Amino acid sequence: MGHLKASTRERLILALDVESVEEAEGLVDLLGDYVGAFKVGSQLYTAHGPKVVEVIQGKGGRVFLDLKFHDIPSTVAAAAAEAVKLGVFMFNLHASGGLEMMRKAIEAAKKAAGRAKREKPLVVAVTVLTSLDEVALGEELGVGRPLRDHVIHLAKMAHGAGLDGVVASPQEIEDIRAACGQEFLIVTPGVRPEWATLGDQKRVMTPGEAIAAGADYIVVGRPILQAPDPVEAARRILKEMAL
Ligand code: C5P
Repeated sequence: MGHLKASTRERLILALDVESVEEAEGLVDLLGDYVGAFKVGSQLYTAHGPKVVEVIQGKGGRVFLDLKFHDIPSTVAAAAAEAVKLGVFMFNLHASGGLEMMRKAIEAAKKAAGRAKREKPLVVAVTVLTSLDEVALGEELGVGRPLRDHVIHLAKMAHGAGLDGVVASPQEIEDIRAACGQEFLIVTPGVRPEWATLGDQKRVMTPGEAIAAGADYIVVGRPILQAPDPVEAARRILKEMAL
């Protein structure tokens, strides 16, 4: 496997879908030894900004900044440079923003990393949001090709732009792997252990299945956050991933 492939713990990303810095802090203290990174999304970041990222990193946690940048190339490039300055381990953007937007973002991230003398964060693209189905894609967004083809088209574009990988649902892993090669990172949410409830996730795989299908990182929220014993839940997930 490629140079960026990570150990089992490093491959588990916890979605910090909580409201307060205190809750986030508590989870980092509790689960820091069991997960490789903490995902900060638009809720937590809109409420608390860079402070929450700094708090997590201050405790030794790595951060996946899940803000899905999608804007004109110069704006996304500037945001990418800021994400590098924040010191995050991974951030994402929408492939639908186009090739130039992605190229400029990577270029800016590399430059900012050079200036800050730190490693460039992993930059991954969102292809088609899993909340969109083929009807919405066609009728609302005017994309004529089948959803699966459009996902692959956007993944290839992200690969061509020099991104490190994509965020993809479990069902998309094999096609993306085939289209973009072994080195391209696949970050997979929508993962559910057999023993967890589905919540609003419909098309799921277990952690073991997602890793076997070729995911590099899996993003898990509620199966850990809402477990009676989150540490035990994280341990069980790591065990399944390692099988
Ligand atoms: O609680 P759960 O494990 O479903 O959380 C998964 C995380 O991944 C959430 O933060 C959710 O927003 C995110 N996500 C997802 N499905 C996608 C893309 C992102 O569940 N297709």
